[in-house]
Amino acid sequence: MSAGTRPEARDADPLAMPLRFLRAGTGGALPVVLIHGFPFDARMWRPQLEAFAGEHDVVAPHLRGFGGTSPGDGQTTMELLVDDLFAFLDRLALDPAVLVGLSMGGYVALRAAEREPRRLRGLVLCDTRSEADSDEGRLGRARTLRRVKEGGTGFLAEEMPPRLLSARTLESRPAVVAAVREMIADAGPTAVCGALLAMAGRTSTTAMLAELEVPALVVAGEEDRLTPPELGREMAGRIPDATVHVVPEAGHVSNLENPEAFDRGLRGFLESL
Ligand code: MLT
Repeated sequence: MSAGTRPEARDADPLAMPLRFLRAGTGGALPVVLIHGFPFDARMWRPQLEAFAGEHDVVAPHLRGFGGTSPGDGQTTMELLVDDLFAFLDRLALDPAVLVGLSMGGYVALRAAEREPRRLRGLVLCDTRSEADSDEGRLGRARTLRRVKEGGTGFLAEEMPPRLLSARTLESRPAVVAAVREMIADAGPTAVCGALLAMAGRTSTTAMLAELEVPALVVAGEEDRLTPPELGREMAGRIPDATVHVVPEAGHVSNLENPEAFDRGLRGFLESL
């Protein structure tokens, strides 16, 4: 796996695209773009980058501010994240691509599909939802943002894993718990606040689901408490051509918690395209 980095004057221009990514190798013909969740970075896709190397052209960008990229001024919107993604697809000549997004990455993929459907060859929505935040959800993000501004991001690495991960992962997959904690701990406050703002302000993409012209796969960790499998099934029910893959013994970070089962679903879907 190689890390493609192009440091550039991103601090000087907050609208410039963060161009760092992990790539498994350019062996396959089908571009597959893996979009990470919050507050992670492209490293969360390591199992899939390894598993699919040579089968497809698998690329995982770091979203703005994560994975050592510049967060700019932290005034991030979902539109800006999608602009970044499109610029990234253009720069690497990756469309049409299969967009695979987990949770926040799913929000980015869904909005990308709504804005420019021609860029998609397929859509994989993992542990995510198409609805915008509820008022309660927005208030929760505002509280988190305030805590980060007051005291930094340290509390996230303590508080998030028990909410995100399945009981099985917390009890018997210490390497996964450590990897999740490490990514959260590495996320800087400006990036975290920017992502919170982007998620709180995002629009609903539910109406678009019925218009989706490419095949979709909806993946859900069996024990995901944030976006449970029922929600995934409901979302899939709105999409003309969608299948559902439930990952056993996994919570909200299903690709890391049970990569074998996750990959089986993803591989089957990619082979069907
Ligand atoms: C994520 O995993 O990306 C988050 O749970 C998304 C969110 O907070 O809505």
